[in-house]
Amino acid sequence: MDKTQLIDQTAVFIKSKLTGEGSGHDWWHIYRVWKNAIHIAEFEQADLFVVELAALLHDIADWKFHDGNEDIGPQQAREWLEGLGVDEKVIGHVCTIIQDISFKGAGVATNMKTIEGMIVQDADRLDAMGAIGISRAFAYGGSKGREMYNPELKPEQHDSFEQYKNSQGTSINHFYEKLLLLKELMNTVTAREIANKRHKVMEDYLQEFFKEWEGKD
Ligand code: ADP
Ligand code: NI
Repeated sequence: MDKTQLIDQTAVFIKSKLTGEGSGHDWWHIYRVWKNAIHIAEFEQADLFVVELAALLHDIADWKFHDGNEDIGPQQAREWLEGLGVDEKVIGHVCTIIQDISFKGAGVATNMKTIEGMIVQDADRLDAMGAIGISRAFAYGGSKGREMYNPELKPEQHDSFEQYKNSQGTSINHFYEKLLLLKELMNTVTAREIANKRHKVMEDYLQEFFKEWEGKD
């Protein structure tokens, strides 16, 4: 199989696995991350094959839905890629990206080791921002039975991955605990520009939200 066929097969596999998922981690999230990643990669010297495979497989099995098990994603990605006969070097690289990509709390560094990882992490984070990011935050919160907002609960700063994993905060607090911090965490110039625009969309949205909450216009 050539590289295009391997990517197409991976897309078909992930689409069948994640279609209809209701927490914002469905196939269309993967699709958008894939497209975002290709766009960002145009401006970087990167191995596009690794970028595309990692984008497609990055949420194959997320710790958030597997009792916090961080190894399950890379394991499942490896199984799939080995089954296709992909080069071990590529498999290792893709699995490392999947292992490292996730946001783990405001006070926890998540540095990607390669440009390919940086691109996929930026693409994933962009999909947590802006109009789509707002939608996904409430879809995720609802799927976990979280309150939309509760003014009596203040946002927390998570200094360890354990704290972040176990957090039960409201979806609005998630904006302060993660989403509004993402703009400063972009790895590439291209993503940073897109992030600035999406950040503004979230700020405007929150301003409106709090106005309406207090019964103002
Ligand atoms: P990451 O692995 O970096 O968290 P994902 O691709 O898994 O990235 O997506 C995380 C998505 O889930 C984001 O859109 C984010 O807003 C949402 N999410 C995660 N945790 C929460 C939470 N506690 N409340 C609301 N939304 C959340
Ligand atoms: Ni994702």
